[in-house]
Amino acid sequence: MLTSLRLNPNLLKVPLYIAGKSIEEVQEEYGLDDVLKLASNESALGPSPLAIEAAQRVLWDSHRYPGSADRNLRRRLAPTLHPNFDEHYLIIGNGATDIIRMLAQAFVFDGGEMITSRVTFPMYHIAATMFGGVPVLVPPTSDLRFDLRAIAEAIKPNTRLIFVCSPNNPTGMICQRAEVEQFMRRVPAEVVVVFDESYRDFVADPDYPDPCDYVDDGRNVIVVRSFSKSAGLANLRVGYAIARPEMIEYLSHAQIPFNTGALALEAARASLDDHEYLERIRRLVCEEREFLYHALDGLDLAYTRSHANFVMIPDLPLEANRLSEKLIRSGVIVRPMAAWGMPTAIRVTIGLREHNERFIAALGAALADGNGTSKQ
Ligand SMILES: Cc1ncc(COP(=O)(O)O)c(C=O)c1O
Repeated sequence: MLTSLRLNPNLLKVPLYIAGKSIEEVQEEYGLDDVLKLASNESALGPSPLAIEAAQRVLWDSHRYPGSADRNLRRRLAPTLHPNFDEHYLIIGNGATDIIRMLAQAFVFDGGEMITSRVTFPMYHIAATMFGGVPVLVPPTSDLRFDLRAIAEAIKPNTRLIFVCSPNNPTGMICQRAEVEQFMRRVPAEVVVVFDESYRDFVADPDYPDPCDYVDDGRNVIVVRSFSKSAGLANLRVGYAIARPEMIEYLSHAQIPFNTGALALEAARASLDDHEYLERIRRLVCEEREFLYHALDGLDLAYTRSHANFVMIPDLPLEANRLSEKLIRSGVIVRPMAAWGMPTAIRVTIGLREHNERFIAALGAALADGNGTSKQ
């Protein structure tokens, strides 16, 4: 039916973002009631109650456009990020995903190159392709780290944008201060470096740098963060970028008016007051990560040393799509990494203790049921 239409040839080249199966899909497809989703790095604690109260209050203004909710969030947020920042250093997106779209639209038109790692969040290359850019995907180091040295070497005259994801999805590993400093010394001024720190709040390592300092120094650096993970608001879609005001002004040309509703913006603002929630989620992730490591040691499986609310198991003794299917049959959804070019890897979100126990039990059973030694 579309044959009579003139279609955008560039759009046809854009890879689709493959989201994990939803709980409802698995319930319907497999006839299961009790399904546990550990596939999208969502908060195991549900949303912050302060955020829910704020959203409920705003529901009664649903007939109105969001008004100054965007500015109010930026004003509340800016001083928590850097003492020299105000609301003009921030732009809000419909999730960090929307910010990534704006960045690609702003910088990689006309065949400009975007460099990132081959093993990272797929939206960078999807967004670059969407706007006629050329993605350059650099392999990770042998221990699966973001290879900043190789990325610096891949910079060419046509490079416009570099995405550094730290903690990186799907490994959870961070880029440390010294390597970031070395890397930034090699990046020319005409290349924009984006640090996607959607999982920043989970990091406790003192060697984790704060790229807001580069923004303060006037560098062409953009920091991306999200309320979806540590604030538990994935369903409300709020993310943001931090950059110099003139950069933010430029990016605002790629912003859709009222891209996020006041419900989401007010919930996000209220979540910033819920220090207890943030502490609880941090503590849970930290403790449960250790629980998972210990249990995976017991199953003789290697894993990445993660600084985020998920862990990657890179080298399973069977194909990850098959393992994932077996786990789904026992009601546990994880993310197989075949689409990342890692056919024997899965990523699992850290849940409550009972979730993690259920995952480990299902994983142990799936590996033991006779196919565990075959990668076919
Ligand atoms: C590294 C990274 N960046 C951005 C996002 C998107 O987050 P949001 O829900 O804010 O769009 C994700 C989501 O999984 C992610 O892993």
